[in-house]
Formats: sequence, structure tokens, C-alpha cells
Amino acid sequence: MRVAPSIEHDVFCPTLLREIESCLERFVQDASYTTKLREAVGYSLLGGGKRLRPLLALRCCEACGASTKDALEAAAAVEMVHAFSLVHDDLPALDNDAIRRGRPTAHVAYGEAMAILAGDALLALAMHAACSTARNPSRIAHEVTNATSAMITGQVYDTLGGFPEAMPPAERLSLVHNHKTGALIRCACRVGALCAEARPEHFAALDRWGDLVGLMFQAVDDLLDVTQSAEHVGKAVGKDSDAGKLTYPSVYGIDATRHEVCRLRREALATLEPLGERAEHLLAITEYLAARTR
Ligand code: IPE
Ligand code: IPE
Ligand code: MG
Ligand code: MG
Ligand code: MG
Repeated sequence: MRVAPSIEHDVFCPTLLREIESCLERFVQDASYTTKLREAVGYSLLGGGKRLRPLLALRCCEACGASTKDALEAAAAVEMVHAFSLVHDDLPALDNDAIRRGRPTAHVAYGEAMAILAGDALLALAMHAACSTARNPSRIAHEVTNATSAMITGQVYDTLGGFPEAMPPAERLSLVHNHKTGALIRCACRVGALCAEARPEHFAALDRWGDLVGLMFQAVDDLLDVTQSAEHVGKAVGKDSDAGKLTYPSVYGIDATRHEVCRLRREALATLEPLGERAEHLLAITEYLAARTR
């Protein structure tokens, strides 16, 4: 299945992407960094990326009746945590990757020490951005902090294992994926809704939707690792099985993973029903996430 051009156009709305980019740039410019640290943070945060998580926050905010602009700072906070997670994920001690977003990873470009510190700085900047939201700043800061802890827990399981001995592989896989990837995606949806002061039933729907699309996102990422070229995805591929990682294809096989993606897509679409027409862009995002190839 391919992503229809109309869906891709709807999801990656140029106006929203420009607003996200300038919000991120503003936070980096205003931080009191040394020249080299600003450069390394800028390289890691402003150097491309689909901006999926900030788009989720903005569109969830809009789906709850507020303006996308109301969620910009919260969206930026989530993207900063994401950028931090990628810089550290690529380090030699973790996945040891040399290419990210089609160019050298942060530690290849700036050295390992600066990459570690740029990751640390991005996390601090994320907390600053989360506290800068107009509505619900302390709740949003808590949401971002909790999701960051969950992401790190997922990275620990993914990199070092340490699962309860009796836990079957399928449960280990959900534990890893819900934490390392799902938590931050779900957080983007939750903070978007909080920026709109969403009604409880709308918040609950978006929370559930975020959970489903977060899982679907990593299931598709695992599929791309075994089906796509490094040139196409802009990062190394084919490494998960060599590294003995728990992935959807390694636990269920490729065909069953594709079926699971279809199931998650259907359930995610149904979850949006209580939001009515305002969820139009979230429907498009669901379709995109099920069919994306990078
Ligand atoms: C990559 O996320 C890391 C995973 C959680 C699988 P993205 O595919 O959203 O990365 P960018 O931001 O677009 O580079
Ligand atoms: C990354 O998972 C999850 C986080 C960065 C938290 P992966 O290790 O599979 O992501 P990629 O494939 O390097 O983007
Ligand atoms: Mg990893
Ligand atoms: Mg990795
Ligand atoms: Mg991967």
C-alpha cells in the first residue's frame, strides 16, 4: 500500500511545518549556549525529520476545538525530547548508527561528548518549552516528563533487556514498543488536547488513538527496517535482527505484522468517531501512518 499524494499533502501541511520550525528555532536561539553547543543542538533538532509528533499535538488541539497555534510550545517540547532520544539512540553504546535523516549522526558530526551533551541540552530545552504553554503548563510539563521516563525505560529494555523471566516474547515486544516509541507519540496527542482544554470524552478518545497510532508507528518502523533501503529511509536498515532486537517481524513475521498494522489502523479510525468532523486531519494522519514508507 502507498500513501496517496492527497493524504501526504494534508498531513504535511507546509504552513504548520513552517510554524513548528520557527518555534523550534526560536527556542534554540533564545537558549544560553556556547557557540558549539548551539550548533550541535541546532544540527540535531533543526536538521530535518518528519515532525510527526508536533503535527499530532497541533492537530489534536485543533480536533478539540482550539487553534493549532495554542499547542505550538507543547508540540516543540515533545519534538525536543524526540530529538534527544534519537541523538542518544544513535550513540555507539546504544544502536551505534552513523546516518540519521540522510546525514551523519550527531556523534559522527560533533564527537561523542558533544552529542551526549547536546542530548542533555535538548531535554532541558524541552522542559523549558513545556513550561511555556499558555494553558495547563504544569500538567503539560508532567506529561512530557512522564513520557520521557517511559521512553527511557523502553530504551533500557530494548538495549539491555532485563525482562521478567517468565514474560513471553509477545508481551516483551509490547512492553518495549509501548514505552520506547508509544509513550512519546501518545504524549503528543495528550498535550495537544490539554492545550485545548479538551472535554474529558475527547481527551479519552485522543489518548486511546495516540496509544494505537504509537504502536502502529513502531510496527511500521520495524517493517521498514526489513523492507526498505537506507537511501529511502535516511537511516541504517537491516540492523534490528543482527542486533537481536525484539521487533514485530521477528516475533510475528512480516505478513502477520502487516495484518496487525491493518487492525491497528481500523481500531484507530473507529476511536476518532466521538470527535466528528473536527478529526478530519487525524483520519488522514492515521492513513498516512499505516502506509508510510519512510
Ligand atoms: C524515528 O522516528 C524513531 C522511532 C521512534 C522509530 P521518526 O521516524 O519520527 O523520525 P524523524 O523525526 O522523522 O527523523
Ligand atoms: C528508537 O527506536 C526509539 C527511540 C529513539 C526512543 P529505533 O532504534 O528502532 O529507531 P531508529 O530505527 O534508530 O530510528
Ligand atoms: Mg534503538
Ligand atoms: Mg536506533
Ligand atoms: Mg528502528
